[in-house]
Amino acid sequence: MITPLNKLAEWHNLQNLAHKTPINNKSLRVIEAAGISLDISAQHYSAELSKAAELLLQARDFNKKRLQLFNGDIVNTTECRAAWHTALRSPDPKHPEILEERQRVNAFVREADSERRWRNVVHIGIGGSDWGVRLAVQAFGYSGTWRQVRFVSNIDGHAIEGGLAGLDPLETLVVIASKSFTTSETLENALRAVQWLKNSSLKNPFDHVVAVTANTRKATEWGVKPEHVFKIWDWIGGRFSIWSAVSITTALAVGTDVLAGMHSGAAAMDEHFRSAELTHNAPVQMAIAGVVNRSILGYGSLNIAPYDFRLANLVPYIQQLEMESLGKSVLVDGKPAEVSTGPAVWGMPGTDAQHTFFQWLHQSSDGAPVDFIVCQHAQHAWANHHTSLLANCLAQREALINGKSYDQALQECLDSGMNINDAKSLANHRVHTGGRPSNLIVLSRLSPYTLGALLALYEHKVFTQATIWGINPFDQWGVEYGKRLADGITQALKPDGKVENKHDASTAYWLNIFKNKSN
Ligand code: F6P
Repeated sequence: MITPLNKLAEWHNLQNLAHKTPINNKSLRVIEAAGISLDISAQHYSAELSKAAELLLQARDFNKKRLQLFNGDIVNTTECRAAWHTALRSPDPKHPEILEERQRVNAFVREADSERRWRNVVHIGIGGSDWGVRLAVQAFGYSGTWRQVRFVSNIDGHAIEGGLAGLDPLETLVVIASKSFTTSETLENALRAVQWLKNSSLKNPFDHVVAVTANTRKATEWGVKPEHVFKIWDWIGGRFSIWSAVSITTALAVGTDVLAGMHSGAAAMDEHFRSAELTHNAPVQMAIAGVVNRSILGYGSLNIAPYDFRLANLVPYIQQLEMESLGKSVLVDGKPAEVSTGPAVWGMPGTDAQHTFFQWLHQSSDGAPVDFIVCQHAQHAWANHHTSLLANCLAQREALINGKSYDQALQECLDSGMNINDAKSLANHRVHTGGRPSNLIVLSRLSPYTLGALLALYEHKVFTQATIWGINPFDQWGVEYGKRLADGITQALKPDGKVENKHDASTAYWLNIFKNKSN
């Protein structure tokens, strides 16, 4: 059983304080952790509010729950599983199979590299079996890699068609990444890829197929050679697969050192999360600000703004991590959560985001907290580009913090030569409310280490927010229902299928239209 937040005095104390604690633009709060600087100055904060948050964490048994997470205890109570992604990146993993599998992946990649095999890799997977690999391959392979990687996730036939187009089967490795080995999109796409291999002159098409799964029996029954099946485990959530053998494609594309570096950075952030005082604990402080913004100040979403072309896939990666973990409205014991929980997460790299939706962030009625992420040092030859990137990032954030008053806007219009009447009529349109919260996360440079630390920072922030809200961040029952309905509708759409009269009017209408191929 768990006490709903609304029944906790510590919650009401935090609520009362948050409503009367503005963003203080004279305060500076920066936490250094695992090579990352987290600037949380632009959040609603005071020493009192921080104390109240700490008391709430105590009331939620946070220290004990954090220990259980790291010990591999059953923290995913509805599936009766651990969520032991921290073990995957530990330098001394407590589970014997982890090191063994890590070494199998490295040996496979080293052999392929020594033979200059697999010019092409077609990575077939979806969600957590896809986003992390896309993120790392783009982050460290954006300027081109010896091996070409194609990602196929969507069931839309154009995805697999495009994924295979123009490739030579003789030089191509197909990676089937699926923890369950039951995800319909992945298996359907994998069938097309294997058929494509079989249609070539290859004597043994399955020599060109590897699988990464927790369901090793299913993979071998499906046809994958046992020595080509790499294990993950039930006690690793799908959205935490980046630390597992699912990242074999990353190693093939940008090297096993990248995986090792990401593991090191994440392990350093794990250590920080485990040991740092709560007031100087980066994930904890990000989590408190996130709960205050979402559940007390009522912001419905969180914007992720990586000011780095290489981190475009960080947005969908964090979307899945946050929204599949925190998109819950019942507590761990099944009772209603009673407060708003996980926000919608969205975003795009800056500076493109400035020309897409920053108008909304600055002047809409609601706005949203923004996580700005930027590298201090350029890793290319054009210093002026990087200066402009940094300037834009800081400027956008400053505008959100400080806003622009009517008097400033009026003076701006007058200074531009407008007459007083025109200036007065335009000034209100140029006012920015300001006081809009944001985090600034600064990496010295983008490296496997700092990316690993950044992802672990978000993982532990999500865990801490779930602990405060009292929800289970490690299951995802909400995605099952749609899959079940899709199975039924797929049957109904088949030529001999029957449209049952259980559908709503609109679904039934379109089912009949789609069934009648001649339409
Ligand atoms: O979206 C639901 C989900 O189960 C994710 O949690 C997971 O990452 C994805 O589907 C793919 O699952 P699998 O790796 O089992 O194919």
